Amino acid sequence: MKKVRIALLGLGNVGKGVWNILQKNGGEIAQRSGYDIEIAKILVRDVNKDRGVKVPKELLTNDFDDIISDDSIEIVVEVMGGIDPTMEYILRSVRKKKNVVTANKMLIATHGKEIFREVEENGVSINFEASVAGGIPVINGINENLAANKIEEIKGIINGTTNYILTKMTQDGMDFDAALQEAQEKGYAEADPTSDVEGFDAAYKLAILAALAFETEVDINNVYKEGITNIKAMDIEYAKEMGYVVKLLAIAKDVDGKLELRVHPTMIPSIHPLANVNDAFNAVFIKGNAVGELMLYGRGAGELPTGSAVVGDIISVLRSEREGSNISLSHYTDKKVSRMEAVEAEYYIRMTLVDKPGVLGRIATKLGENNVSIYSFIQKPVKGDFATVVLVTHKNLEGNVKKALKEICEMDAINKVENVIRIEQ
Ligand SMILES: NC(=O)c1ccc[n+]([C@@H]2O[C@H](COP(=O)([O-])OP(=O)(O)OC[C@H]3O[C@@H](n4cnc5c(N)ncnc54)[C@H](OP(=O)(O)O)[C@@H]3O)[C@@H](O)[C@H]2O)c1
Repeated sequence: MKKVRIALLGLGNVGKGVWNILQKNGGEIAQRSGYDIEIAKILVRDVNKDRGVKVPKELLTNDFDDIISDDSIEIVVEVMGGIDPTMEYILRSVRKKKNVVTANKMLIATHGKEIFREVEENGVSINFEASVAGGIPVINGINENLAANKIEEIKGIINGTTNYILTKMTQDGMDFDAALQEAQEKGYAEADPTSDVEGFDAAYKLAILAALAFETEVDINNVYKEGITNIKAMDIEYAKEMGYVVKLLAIAKDVDGKLELRVHPTMIPSIHPLANVNDAFNAVFIKGNAVGELMLYGRGAGELPTGSAVVGDIISVLRSEREGSNISLSHYTDKKVSRMEAVEAEYYIRMTLVDKPGVLGRIATKLGENNVSIYSFIQKPVKGDFATVVLVTHKNLEGNVKKALKEICEMDAINKVENVIRIEQ
């Protein structure tokens, strides 16, 4: 059996998963890859930390030079996260002709182009399956198994934290704060949940998926994002009454050669396969022009599921006999991304207003003046000073809806437009 020496950058959640999988399934992995994989060095910040995993102490280092100067290390597995100094470590590894495997969505989404260029120039490979949807093989799915297709659309639940929170709000009637607290207690949400609940994490992942699916460069700033912090128990309740479920969807669509890239809370019919993806599970729904519709479902995070994707990438590197980069930027285009104002969707709009005659008629008129057509208009029982009105539109241009709502807000009978949620059928 040939031997290959690899290094891990990081021994946190994912690093421990990689270590444990290599210990547990080492025999099978050696058979499948043709190599006996030896972890030669592991970079951490604190070599004395108790990690609850049996790793020989002599493997740990806090000096990256121990890895980069060791020519016998052929694969660098980056599972430490962040941009700085991670980017530098990856580039130095690539320039020393080491293949790289990474789980780092933020780095690939924001600096992928630069990294891929170096990888191509140096004739090595970079694999990043774990960067999107943890254990779900969506990147290889798009890159390899669906390579015969023109991908038309991707809709994904690719953030487990927000899916857990929305599931709790839907199934147990919790409000956002209580559901977030429970997610934090169970380890599904971090102490600072901003990246998850404000949609940043899902936007990084969507940028990676869209770049691969549509073979285009994606500037992360062109991915529209809106988090779930404004979703109220009441919205979830009204959605249910109308046969919808609220999910944080990451959507990438090619509409006549222009891309829509957006992450936002979305109402989807309760019979849609994505509506039944609950708790911290992830799923990616893909539409290809040959395969039709398919959905990949599984665990989007966690030590072993994410470690599974990372080790799968290590095996891919070994199997491909180092033929060079698996990403070719040369045929990538620079597809235009639509502004949200130009996106067409159906909208759920909840507003509070003074309950007096003629107000609903004036709202309908304003919508009509802005070419916004209404599908349904429901007035809820008056509670306190204001009445709640829920209206659902047909498919309309977002720009028109926003303009109409701005004008409606200026009417003195209107208290507030409380929430606007897009609907995908
Ligand atoms: N957690 C998941 O389920 C998951 C899923 C998919 C993708 N990912 C991605 O995987 C990566 C790692 O996530 P994680 O959850 O495993 O993180 P983590 O638990 O915080 O572990 C990070 C590890 O990297 C080490 N490290 C961080 N900065 C370092 C530095 N400057 N120098 C040396 N060592 C450093 C830490 O060392 P110390 O232990 O000494 O502090 C720690 O061992 C991230 O890019 C994340 O986005 C994670």
